[in-house]
Amino acid sequence: MAQLGGTAIYVDAHTSQLVRGESLADTAKVISSYCDFIAVRINDHDRLVEIAENSTVPVINALTLLEHPTQALADVYTIRQHRRDISKAKIAFVGDISQNTANSLMLTASKLGAEVNLVGPKGYQPNNRCYTKANSHSKIHLIHSIEDGLEDADVIYTDTFVSMGRESSAEKRRKLFAPYQVTSKMLKFAKPNAIVMHPLPAHRGEEIAADVIDGKQSVVWEQARNKLLLEKALLVYLSNGR
Ligand code: NVA
Repeated sequence: MAQLGGTAIYVDAHTSQLVRGESLADTAKVISSYCDFIAVRINDHDRLVEIAENSTVPVINALTLLEHPTQALADVYTIRQHRRDISKAKIAFVGDISQNTANSLMLTASKLGAEVNLVGPKGYQPNNRCYTKANSHSKIHLIHSIEDGLEDADVIYTDTFVSMGRESSAEKRRKLFAPYQVTSKMLKFAKPNAIVMHPLPAHRGEEIAADVIDGKQSVVWEQARNKLLLEKALLVYLSNGR
């Protein structure tokens, strides 16, 4: 926002009238009368929807437990930089396939025609609504075998095993997802020029090996930079519509 010449104000539940019991709907009405956009990072997706329904300005989902669409914008942009025709790309999302970045990447990449393999352990599923919608755009596969899931992949994507808001099941998740750590051995199942992606923050030795995230197939620093660029692009796009 600052780079575009605007001003950003940080508001949270503890420093606003929400702490004194104001309803989310009332807070959304007031805040939206003060500013041009609201970016919301909140665990409960329904509460984000409640803000959007009561706001008079665009509300940007800056992350919920269900979706992380601004990350997905940067992700597909990064993939397009490396694979001109994303509609021919095969993306393997490895690890915790039940969380926000998996849901949003699957929704966004499938809309552009990419095939997505969700590779994770039994017992964890992507959100059903996101999966059904993505599957209506392109092919989405749920796969437990790492070798099968990574076969011919152009993109290997992973994310933390313990997303924000999932801390109470951290120990269980780390144990269950451990075999899905992206290692250099695992890269051999994918295409030789496959790119490795991660939305950060990364935990070396947990969801990704240090030599992979710091290795030559990793594009994570470019991906991180693209997050800034795409969020600016989103603000410009939303401004033009007003
Ligand atoms: N799945 C992660 C994304 C971080 C950018 C989380 O929700 O913590």
